[in-house]
Amino acid sequence: MPLGLFLGGCITAIPVVTGVAEGVSHQKKQNEEAANETRMVKFNLDVFCAANSSRKGEVNGGIVVLRHDKVWILPKDPTTHQPIPPISSPSPTPPLHPFAGFYIQYPDDNRNPPERGLVSTISDDPPMLNWIYMDRTTQELRYGNRTASIAHVVGAWDWTDDEAGLVLEGRELFVAVDEGEAGMEERSGLRWALYFDRYDDKLGRGKMVGGREVLECSLERRVLSEELQLKQQQEADKKMQVKSSGGMKTQFTAPAAEQKRRN
Ligand SMILES: *[C@@H]1O[C@H](CO)[C@@H](O)[C@H](O)[C@H]1NC(C)=O
Ligand SMILES: *[C@@H]1O[C@H](CO)[C@@H](O)[C@H](O)[C@H]1NC(C)=O
Ligand SMILES: *[C@@H]1O[C@H](CO)[C@@H](O)[C@H](O)[C@H]1NC(C)=O
Repeated sequence: MPLGLFLGGCITAIPVVTGVAEGVSHQKKQNEEAANETRMVKFNLDVFCAANSSRKGEVNGGIVVLRHDKVWILPKDPTTHQPIPPISSPSPTPPLHPFAGFYIQYPDDNRNPPERGLVSTISDDPPMLNWIYMDRTTQELRYGNRTASIAHVVGAWDWTDDEAGLVLEGRELFVAVDEGEAGMEERSGLRWALYFDRYDDKLGRGKMVGGREVLECSLERRVLSEELQLKQQQEADKKMQVKSSGGMKTQFTAPAAEQKRRN
């Protein structure tokens, strides 16, 4: 069964993804990438913004969350590292889900060479993974299954040389856009959406977003602690009653490089 179906379905957890990837014969490369434990270490995304704007404080120090098929920025609780729900609206159910993802090759024979994709959980219960992609028309960052994402820019996602910053197509051209007050209630109070400034022109000098405020920012990987990765994994396994094979466990022990950096 193709990986995409699993990513779009509701039975996905990481061992399943790995298992599925191994079962897809035309994706040998993907297996190599999937086998690269460094790439599959799960991380959250923090937001840094040094833009010359009185409003940079609304996004700087924030955290990336996923909702309504789009990628947003919310302020972050400095102790728990969890998003602070917008006060102006009733607390959304289910709670706003922080990006928690990793790199894996995008399954598409027509992409040559193959591109490194980015997936994230979009909910913990049921555990579900989706692709993160840039909408070709609007340049918004969105998430969706393979069908929803395949016609768009699905990669290549990567990290900066120090493995700290997220990059797309080799560049860190992420911007936060104020989506305005109208419709905030339907958006769970979310306001700052992430876009990719692909042509490095501040989204056509703001024309693409109706002159709304556009703030340059960077997205930094915050690797989930080993305990958290393991806990989430166990919870996912329990929910799905999937037997985790021996090889899967190693995926969640920090690779040597990470260990070294921490020591
Ligand atoms: C993929 O997402 C689209 C909406 O974007 C949905 O219509 C479709 O049912 C989903 N496919 C699967 C296999 O879940
Ligand atoms: C895994 O990824 C790291 C970081 O990009 C790279 O240095 C390493 O060579 C990769 N290992 C394999 C086996 O591909
Ligand atoms: C920041 O913006 C203000 C107003 O637009 C401008 O006067 C100032 O020179 C800018 N500062 C820098 C460091 O670019």
